[in-house]
Amino acid sequence: MHRRLLDYGITVLGLLASGVWGLMGPLHSLLMRLRWKRFRMYQFKTRPDDVFIVTYPKSGTTWMQMIAWQLKSGGSLDFRHIEDVVPFIDRCGPAELPRLEALESPRFFKSHLSYEDVPPGARYIYVVRNLKDVAVSYYYHHLLMEDFRGGLDVFVKMLVNRRTNGGSWARHVLSWLEHRNAPNVLFLSYEEMQADLPGTIRRVAQFSGIALDEERLPLLVEQCSVAFMKKLEARFDPRLSRRGNFVRKGETGEGLRELDATLQAALAAEEQQVLDRARVLDSSGALERLLRGEAPTNGAATEAEPQKQQKMG
Ligand code: A3P
Repeated sequence: MHRRLLDYGITVLGLLASGVWGLMGPLHSLLMRLRWKRFRMYQFKTRPDDVFIVTYPKSGTTWMQMIAWQLKSGGSLDFRHIEDVVPFIDRCGPAELPRLEALESPRFFKSHLSYEDVPPGARYIYVVRNLKDVAVSYYYHHLLMEDFRGGLDVFVKMLVNRRTNGGSWARHVLSWLEHRNAPNVLFLSYEEMQADLPGTIRRVAQFSGIALDEERLPLLVEQCSVAFMKKLEARFDPRLSRRGNFVRKGETGEGLRELDATLQAALAAEEQQVLDRARVLDSSGALERLLRGEAPTNGAATEAEPQKQQKMG
């Protein structure tokens, strides 16, 4: 009983902290992390065929949740909200345990945890998106969800000073980048998903051990398109009524259009940390291009997958 009270206490503090976004962002993430660690340590157990969809915020999480659910259900639209079928595990506590246990395998979960914090023993799809587009998308998210009233310049400053809930983009991406070739990790970019949605759906199916009915693929592609998801917007975010759209534009390159040279320069150091590491990890330059937000043109990023599938058994 006292454990549950402590969890509720941490949650209430976290929610209060998220209200005062600027200074409290990091406190909010710390409290959510503490709460999750307690839950993970004492109660939540992964299954080997669980699939965690992991991202830095605004990198295509909801899109990948929809892809996963469409694959798992064979194209069903019979769900009230995406988080009923692909729960946001970082926000789950003891009260959700029976619901999580009742989900059919393979279970899919959404998470924003770093590699170190995610529970081990499962499979992980990591989606990365270029920082400039993340920054613009996150800014609009703050206007919509967090009652943020500042301009893009104020927001970019908050982002680089790690005052948002997501913390450091570079730290998050780097924690996963090191493991991108592990047999239980599928490392994808938002931009390559956009460049080849049918190919992405095939890759996610293969990685998750779901037999894909090729005849249904056009339906799944249609239902995972930004236009289709916009029509079902309330199922992706319940706070829709506030102002603006949660499934917003779904485009690449908005960062370059909306951020002036000063704001792009402000993001450069954060971006460079990731690009430098990518150059060390992959001298061909393909990984660096992927992280810059360029979709691969020769399918090179898909090469390692058949092996992954074999190792997964
Ligand atoms: P924009 O704000 O740039 O439009 P997340 O789910 O991680 O919060 O990411 C949100 C971003 O993914 C938003 O980007 C949203 O529009 C985009 N998105 C959602 N569904 C999409 C889809 N089907 N295709 C492309 N982008 C999508």
